[in-house]
Formats: sequence, C-alpha cells, structure tokens
Amino acid sequence: MYDNWEDLEKSIINCKKCNLYTNRTNIVFGQGNKNADIMFIGEGPGADEDRQGMPFVGKAGKLMNTAFEGLGINREEVYIANIVKCRPPNNRTPESDEATACLDYLRNQVILVKPKIIVLLGSTALKNILGNEHSITASRGKWIEKKGIYYMPTWHPAALLKDENKKIEFWRDLKAVVERYETIKN
Ligand code: URA
Repeated sequence: MYDNWEDLEKSIINCKKCNLYTNRTNIVFGQGNKNADIMFIGEGPGADEDRQGMPFVGKAGKLMNTAFEGLGINREEVYIANIVKCRPPNNRTPESDEATACLDYLRNQVILVKPKIIVLLGSTALKNILGNEHSITASRGKWIEKKGIYYMPTWHPAALLKDENKKIEFWRDLKAVVERYETIKN
C-alpha cells in the first residue's frame, strides 16, 4: 500500500499483473476529486475509456452524466474508478483472477480518497467489493454500512441502456446518495 498518489500511480504504469495488459491502449486509473466524499466504482473500461484513459466517457458514462446533472452531482467533485483498470476484450466481465490482481490498486485508492459513500455500479463492483454472496437484484437501492463507509449498490449505467425501467431505480438510488451526503457532509 502507498500512502501517496504519486507512488501509487507510478506503481501501476507498467502493470502486467494479469493478461488484460496485452490489449490495452491506456490504463484507466481513475478520475475526479482525490478527497471526494462520494466515490463511484464501475466494472472496467470499454473501448472509449481505453482510448481516452478515463472512466465512463462512453455511452454509459454520458447517461451517468445526465443523471449527475439532474441530481446536482458535480462530476469533478466525486471520484470515479473501476474494478479493473484495463479493458477486457469485447467488454466481457472481468475474470475473477483479473479482478483480484487489480483490487489492491482500488483498495489503495479508497484508502487515499477516504470516501464516506461508495456507489457500486453493477454486479461486478458489488461482488468484488462486498462479497459474492450479494446479488445486485436483491441489494440495489439498499444501504450497506461497513467499517464506517456507506455503500449503495445500484445498476450499472450500461444496464440502463438496455432496460428503460432501470433508469427510474438508478435515479432513485443516486437521489438517496445525494440525500445521505447532505446529512453527513459536515
Ligand atoms: N463501464 C464501466 O464499468 N466502466 C467504465 O469506465 C466505462 C464503462
């Protein structure tokens, strides 16, 4: 574990801990306020993210931005990262060995950011952070408190592109995040 961003970022530059490095254009490390109270964790970079080196800049990210704007969440004030930092081929779900290899980086990011709230975007984020016993269908929209951090599991924004009905729940879950944030921010 590193106690500063510079060393952590340096440690990942040539990462070959799993096979995903073979196809990457860019490592998608994370983006946003490094002292954020709210952190978002997705699954892994897609094609646009791989090309630009930033999380959630493609279609799913644009949808997330729209929700952010509607709810008054400033994207620059939160921190956004993924379970894996290199793009899985054809956007497949990361294998468990890939996620495990990458998780120490994310844990280190969480330690440095010290968020009060973590939004888990989809099943991969939920299972890798809180355990395989959780299912996104059963857990979404319900707060889980662990070691002083409040976790809100919700749909992955890409799921909203396939199922319009999920948009309402996603919106509701992010609204709950904003409301909790308002009560704990000071
Ligand atoms: N999907 C994710 O899970 N993460 C991204 O950064 C983009 C799309």
